[in-house]
Amino acid sequence: MGRTTVIFDCDPGVDDGVALLLAFAARDTLDLLAITTVAGNVSTKLTARNAGILREIASREDVPIYAGCERPLKRSPIEAGHFHGESGLGNLPLFEPQRPAETEHAVDWLIRTLLAAPAGSISLVVTGPLTNIATALLREPSIAKAMREIAIMGGARSEGGNITASAEYNIYADPHAAQIVFASDVEIVAFGLDVTHQVRATPERIDTIGKVGTRSAMATANLLTFATYLPANSPAAQGSPLHDPCPIAWLIEPALFEFRRCHVEVETESTLTAGHTAVEFRADVAPRQNVRWGVRADAAGIFDLIRGKLTQSGKA
Ligand code: RIB
Ligand code: CA
Repeated sequence: MGRTTVIFDCDPGVDDGVALLLAFAARDTLDLLAITTVAGNVSTKLTARNAGILREIASREDVPIYAGCERPLKRSPIEAGHFHGESGLGNLPLFEPQRPAETEHAVDWLIRTLLAAPAGSISLVVTGPLTNIATALLREPSIAKAMREIAIMGGARSEGGNITASAEYNIYADPHAAQIVFASDVEIVAFGLDVTHQVRATPERIDTIGKVGTRSAMATANLLTFATYLPANSPAAQGSPLHDPCPIAWLIEPALFEFRRCHVEVETESTLTAGHTAVEFRADVAPRQNVRWGVRADAAGIFDLIRGKLTQSGKA
């Protein structure tokens, strides 16, 4: 199978960090054009710096980072420092990356790059609020043509919400942006809580990754350990859900996941249910079924994949 050309938009973030380390390690499968970062878990400044830290840990300074939008399209910013720690990377030792983010704004780079790309040639992965992607689509709708799909960590149906009773954080943090992306003509592959909650970083799985011994593996184990002991993820024995690595794992090994085709609308007005993803599987009710909704994940296979890529990727 050939390599997939990828743009990875994220808000690192502890689990974004694990996804980045996996993506950086999968250089045999993924051709990473750039990492674009957005305000979400923590500020734009910190998400860009954190992406730089993880890039240096993975020795992947060949991949540029572009910082993006500093606030949601309409609603007020809501960070998730209580989940990710003040730095956004839990208790991972911090340093100023040697290579800084590029000076060009992520949205400008996204538009310039996608306009120049052949039709259907680039896979977008988004593991934070969809602000950058929605802003780019609003400014230049024709960029949709270059996108093979947008793989999104976001939303919830049967699992209910994790930031409110009915909304998952990435969608809740910018519901207007999410609605614009789901309503676009682009094929969406959605990894909501229904599927990410099936993928648990148990202490045994973390220990197996830590024993790989490379810098990226040790950093992955550190990030996963931090998430395990968060009250919201208790009991620790069950392990914290592995949200953001899911779309990256799917790009590398699609057979690890199962989907149902559907149409998704996002609540943007209600104070009670803003950010709710209304998932409609009935094609006769909602004929535009441009979304594949994740319903099943092979958790053991995903952890085997992470361990394998971190092993082959590199030096201690
Ligand atoms: O709901 C989980 C999502 O919200 C993840 O992307 C996590 O990083 C937070 O951004
Ligand atoms: Ca995230």
